[in-house]
Amino acid sequence: MKQMMVDLTEKFVYDQLNSDASGHDWFHIDRVRKLALHIAKEEQQGNEFIIEMATLLHDIPDDKLNEDDVAGWKKLDEWFEEIKLDMDSVEAIKRIINTISYSSGHAKLSSIEAEIVQDADRLDAIGAIGIARTFAFGGKKGQPMYDPSLPIREHMTKKEYRTGKSSSVHHFYEKLLRLQDMLNTCTAKKMARERHEYMVSFLEEFYKEWDVRL
Ligand code: ADP
Ligand code: NI
Repeated sequence: MKQMMVDLTEKFVYDQLNSDASGHDWFHIDRVRKLALHIAKEEQQGNEFIIEMATLLHDIPDDKLNEDDVAGWKKLDEWFEEIKLDMDSVEAIKRIINTISYSSGHAKLSSIEAEIVQDADRLDAIGAIGIARTFAFGGKKGQPMYDPSLPIREHMTKKEYRTGKSSSVHHFYEKLLRLQDMLNTCTAKKMARERHEYMVSFLEEFYKEWDVRL
């Protein structure tokens, strides 16, 4: 029964996101699911069904991918009704999705499942994949790859984070390089090290080539 719900949900999410070009495509979802299940196994904690469902659905209500927040959450509720998921699971999954987003601040997480899903989503935002997603997102948004004249924004409201003027390279300082210190589980912290170092070397090389230092 549970496996059937996972399979149906997988197909629903695939159909919703397979044409996305902002770095929130189906493959992002699938990686986050694999990362989260790996973390759960290593930590020997967390309900696997809740984790798998929450990772599959975590970007469905995102305001970037819907007309607004309300439309996104409605889409999620309609899906839960369609598969007749029990209320306790619905509540647990919605609470996870609602609290894990970087842009909604640093909300206190309510469960180990939320901590694991958030770690998995954050691991997929750093490293080589993180770099690729950032330039893909920036290109889609029409922001410059890099603009040395822009300031790095330290504190931003959600609106500024989404709409303020920035560049993709700035996004490393405004978010990506901070993620390593914002992880919850030991497993994710260990996995983040290599990915973090890779971004640091990428930036060094980027500036070297940008300045045409020969
Ligand atoms: P969350 O869903 O956790 O709130 P976002 O949706 O803001 O996080 O970011 C998801 C990914 O999209 C980031 O990891 C990054 O790769 C990319 N992204 C978001 N905002 C920007 C930006 N201003 N410039 C470049 N890339 C961005
Ligand atoms: Ni995500």
